Amino acid sequence: MNKINYLDTINIYGGDILCSKGMELSKHNTQHGSTSVYDHSLAVAQMCLIIVHYLHIKTDISSLIRGALLHDYFLYDWHVASKSHRLHGFTHAKKSLQNAEQDFQLTKIERNMIKRHMFPLNICPPRYRESVILCLADKICAVQEIFIKGK
Ligand SMILES: [Fe+2]
Ligand SMILES: [Fe+2]
Repeated sequence: MNKINYLDTINIYGGDILCSKGMELSKHNTQHGSTSVYDHSLAVAQMCLIIVHYLHIKTDISSLIRGALLHDYFLYDWHVASKSHRLHGFTHAKKSLQNAEQDFQLTKIERNMIKRHMFPLNICPPRYRESVILCLADKICAVQEIFIKGK
């Protein structure tokens, strides 16, 4: 599976999420450096597919993609100072889950992926293999965005 196939697969399972108003908003919110939340979420979904592809891990591919796309669905710019998200690192997983539950029908795997993706900063560990893969993919992408792509 190459990069094109990854994007095709993401579109098949998560096209409705990518076209949603929330994700549209995420295009205008910065995640790390010059990367938007939208681009970060898409990169994390791709990284999840790369990990399961190369490590031959069996997963619920739909949940893996949808949970990855929605893991940072907090829908605000965390770089803009505000009392409501001053503890962003600790609170945004819960906020993302609340928003995602309002806009989409989630599986129990997707809920756990979103809620636990900030482990170990949020101390509750991920429960499903899809959640563990997301934790790993999110951190790989964050390092790329902060240290390689730069500002
Ligand atoms: Fe996050
Ligand atoms: Fe993330």
